[in-house]
Amino acid sequence: MTERELVDLAFSMLERSYVPYSHFPVGAALECADGSVFTGCNVENSAYGDTICAERTAVVKAVSEGHRDDFVRIAIAGRSQDYCWPCGSCRQVLNEFAPGLTVLVARGDGAFVRFPLRELLPHGFGPKSLV
Ligand code: THU
Repeated sequence: MTERELVDLAFSMLERSYVPYSHFPVGAALECADGSVFTGCNVENSAYGDTICAERTAVVKAVSEGHRDDFVRIAIAGRSQDYCWPCGSCRQVLNEFAPGLTVLVARGDGAFVRFPLRELLPHGFGPKSLV
């Protein structure tokens, strides 16, 4: 799958977002080494703090389907003018499973940029930190 295709998959998830409070839909598409892709959208809650971000929806779907050690790339898309940067909690959750992940971050006009997760979360705390 090309980067553009992965980003477009993330965009296609915007219509699934449940965002009655923020009206800020986010979509994600997480690709594994075998080519399988797990998508996600943000799912908000009237108890605002219980909102689940798009990236974490995708990660939890992947892990629950048996994918854990093979994440390669994630695309994140929103409709905003700025790139839809992953929040700190999502960076942390991604780092748990895939510190070597490539992150594609898109903005509303379709443009996207590419960053290693290590640059978005330098010196991150992870499983190896507990040894
Ligand atoms: N959101 C995500 O889905 N991912 C992020 O990394 C940043 C924020 C969602 C949460 C909430 O539903 C909305 O964007 C506004 O914060």
